[in-house]
Amino acid sequence: MFRHINGHKTDITIFIDEKPTNASSGETVAAVLLRENIYAVHTAPNGEARGPYCMMGVCFDCMVTLEDGQNEQACQIEATEGLKIYLPISDRYKVGE
Ligand code: FES
Repeated sequence: MFRHINGHKTDITIFIDEKPTNASSGETVAAVLLRENIYAVHTAPNGEARGPYCMMGVCFDCMVTLEDGQNEQACQIEATEGLKIYLPISDRYKVGE
């Protein structure tokens, strides 16, 4: 459902749960997740799936785990070559799979 605007090229690779994923330098990890149809990255205390929503650091629904174990907001992380992120949710909710 989400895609790059025409002519926008991916130039780096990040790893989402160890899966190589094309990204563009400078785009946010949350944008990459949405483009990859990953709409839920963790579960709220009530068990509901949560994923990137506000895209500006307010809702905290985009929390992902970095390679060093730190949890960060995916919408506040810039994609860089080789970045590894892990989704706290055990069963990813992917559209179309
Ligand atoms: S999408 Fe809301 S804090 Fe990241």
